[in-house]
Amino acid sequence: MAKQNIYILGIESSCDDTSAAVICNNVVLSNVVANQKIHEEYGGVVPELASRAHQQNIVPVVHQALKQANITKHELSAIAFTSGPGLMGSLLVGTSFAKSFAFGLNIPIIDVNHMQAHILAHFIKEENFKQPEFPFLGLTISGGHTQIVRVDDYFKMNVIGETIDDAVGEAFDKSGKILGLGYPAGPEIDRRAKLGNPKAFKFTKPKVDGLNFSFSGFKTAVLYFIQKEVKKNPNFIENNLNDICASIQYTIIGILIDKLKLASKETGIKHIAIGGGVSANSGIRNALKSGEQKFGWTTYVPKFEYTTDNAGMIAIVGYLKYLKSDFATQDVMASPRLKI
Ligand code: KG4
Ligand code: ZN
Repeated sequence: MAKQNIYILGIESSCDDTSAAVICNNVVLSNVVANQKIHEEYGGVVPELASRAHQQNIVPVVHQALKQANITKHELSAIAFTSGPGLMGSLLVGTSFAKSFAFGLNIPIIDVNHMQAHILAHFIKEENFKQPEFPFLGLTISGGHTQIVRVDDYFKMNVIGETIDDAVGEAFDKSGKILGLGYPAGPEIDRRAKLGNPKAFKFTKPKVDGLNFSFSGFKTAVLYFIQKEVKKNPNFIENNLNDICASIQYTIIGILIDKLKLASKETGIKHIAIGGGVSANSGIRNALKSGEQKFGWTTYVPKFEYTTDNAGMIAIVGYLKYLKSDFATQDVMASPRLKI
């Protein structure tokens, strides 16, 4: 008998992107993301504005995802949604929408951990993208998270290192703010870093034991350095912007790679998969590639649209949980501090 196709609607609303996706088994049919531009003028995500924008976006985004997938809501097998971690007001919009939509359609709901989803996004079937082999190390790097996760199976994950303060994306964004760049500054630093000298300026790496990270001291080091130099030369930033960006990026990537080397050594695992917005960074991509030659790593970088927050990654987790009949009940709550 032919295997029946499973259609899952995925919904993501944990931070400032409203996203809906439809997956047929492990193939994404649509992945619609509405970014919220409103936060740019504030230099960071404003939770109350994020939740209001989710409310405005959710219905059109879901409608668009079904339309692009060319299916009707009655063909859906289940609805998967991000239950955490994230901003409470933002999570509530996706959670309530998923629960009521599924209730109306009389189909199961599946709660998804956003951090697991960043890692399991690697199992979305895509031409020319290889899927990681278990066990592997997942490095999730974004504006909200920095974690090294040991992944022994789809749902057998253990966080073996994480940031004790700022996330790596914040290190990019806050350094960018000091330099007068717009928000989020990560992509702009990346662009300028390609034109500058990474060894022009030296920033000390924070000393944190084991596999944990710390980025708040790094941001302060950038601030003091810039203040000192601007005192001597008011045009210091303008005159050296590309070199400063290259040096900042070089230091941040060095911190990530040092911890990955240690994690690989301690666990004996040489398969490494990255996820989260910062995995778009060209520096980390190049560093991982050279890790393949230098350390014998096999590295996995997802397709760009599955690195930043998106519902495709929620839908793939929905599919994997659907196969195990791992459903939630209508009393499931949004869980801002959900852990892996
Ligand atoms: O995963 P994401 O879209 O949202 C969450 O924070 O969950 O990640 C956004 C973060 C921002 O901090 C942004 O500056 C950073 O990813 N980012 C980058 C690059 N593209 C996005 N950082 C460095 N280089 C990039 N090319
Ligand atoms: Zn994320």
